[in-house]
Amino acid sequence: MKITSVEFIKSVENIDHIPKDNLKEIAFAGRSNVGKSSLINCLLNRKKIAKTSSTPGKTRLLNYFKINEKFYFVDLPGYGFAKASKTERVHWQRLIESFLTQSPNLKGVVSIIDSRIGPTKLDLQLLEWLKNLNIPIILAATKSDKLSKSALLNQVRKYSNQLSDFKLKKITPFSAISGTGKKEVWREIAILMEH
Ligand code: GTP
Ligand code: MG
Repeated sequence: MKITSVEFIKSVENIDHIPKDNLKEIAFAGRSNVGKSSLINCLLNRKKIAKTSSTPGKTRLLNYFKINEKFYFVDLPGYGFAKASKTERVHWQRLIESFLTQSPNLKGVVSIIDSRIGPTKLDLQLLEWLKNLNIPIILAATKSDKLSKSALLNQVRKYSNQLSDFKLKKITPFSAISGTGKKEVWREIAILMEH
């Protein structure tokens, strides 16, 4: 996909304030600190359009980026932040749930797991929601630069077995540092956007 423009539109805390211009959307979800914002920046060839941080749990809002004046990327708040209070967890759950159920232009969710850790309980919960809502899933295993080729292959094979219930096409190893998987994720996004 040729990126001609990327514009940060807004951060919203409440589903009532999401953009209403009916453009197609792709959302990015994953554990806090897993590398969502880095993956978005990598896909968009921008270093810092989506804010990254080494402190987990920084992004607590839905962040909308308009691409090529045509569609949105939505950076979702990370889950599973160890220090999150119960109130914060409930807030996250409500926000994500309302986003997933009230975004008719949502074409798919890029679910991001850590290639070293694999799907956690909360990742599985999200995948379960997506499955039940019939929302297409693109699965990316990020930080793949932290594993050797053979270890990565082993891990991905293991996760594919663990996730067999979700009928995923594949799990794409990704690295925001080397750009591994960038083409593949874009290809999958482009396919979902055709619908
Ligand atoms: P929250 O918004 O807080 O939920 O985090 P996030 O999921 O957006 O993660 P973010 O992109 O901010 O990255 C978290 C940390 O992981 C940062 O220190 C990044 O530099 C690092 N990181 C992200 N992607 C990669 C990757 O592919 N490889 C390596 N080695 N580090 C990465
Ligand atoms: Mg982030």
